Amino acid sequence: MKITVIHGQSHKGSSYHITNQIINKILSDDKEIYEFFMPRDTPEFCIGCYKCFNESENDCPRSQKVQKIVSCMELSDIIVIDSPTYCYAMTGQLKTFFDHLGYMWLSHRPKEAMFNKVGIVVSTASGAGANKVTKALEQQLFWLGTSKVFRYSKNVNASSWEIIPKKIKESIEKDTSKISIKAKDKVGKVSPSIKLKFIFTMMKMMQKSNDWNMVDKNYWKESGWLDKKRPW
Ligand SMILES: Cc1cc2nc3c(=O)[nH]c(=O)nc-3n(C[C@H](O)[C@H](O)[C@H](O)COP(=O)(O)O)c2cc1C
Repeated sequence: MKITVIHGQSHKGSSYHITNQIINKILSDDKEIYEFFMPRDTPEFCIGCYKCFNESENDCPRSQKVQKIVSCMELSDIIVIDSPTYCYAMTGQLKTFFDHLGYMWLSHRPKEAMFNKVGIVVSTASGAGANKVTKALEQQLFWLGTSKVFRYSKNVNASSWEIIPKKIKESIEKDTSKISIKAKDKVGKVSPSIKLKFIFTMMKMMQKSNDWNMVDKNYWKESGWLDKKRPW
């Protein structure tokens, strides 16, 4: 089983440790992990050149860093993304990475491989906002075609992993066990949600009348999605 892990931060705090617990509990003899840390692995900011949308993702001036992560995501069965809650949002460095995946959204050129992934998204906050972050991360994965996403948000009442109260740590242990079992169970059995099917159909209609971006339109045409073929 292949797992891509994208940490929205470089330090090994609460979000990292919780993510690690989940990954370690996904037992598998052939587990292979591709791990990325933001900002170490974050591409430079998107400069809005539109090359990824209008020409090719390989023409993005940041393509080397972006495509390194994308190719691991494509190969993986599970994609795990975590981020501490910063001012009710994901970290800026993680958002910068996601900005580079706009060309892969359902409205442009979604990758067929993304439709059978299992997503796990994690965020911690000291008091409030982690739920908003996991929802935002889930939304990013949804628009890439991944509709089976397990969300885990936790208010840890602490600024670091070491000082999380014992009771909260115990509840985290239980929660991570449950999530890892559920996520592992879903591998190879993902079917798209009704919402995903609906949006895909909307996008198909949009692409049929698309006369402004032939790169996107040709992609849909060549994938067979303007006819009966589906990416799931
Ligand atoms: C810049 C910054 C912004 C933060 N914003 C929030 C916030 O909006 N809500 C909250 O409850 N905690 C906030 N916190 C606290 C962290 O979210 C919390 O301690 C989290 O568990 C840290 O995760 P980490 O150990 O993985 O870094 C903030 C911390 C920092 C450094």
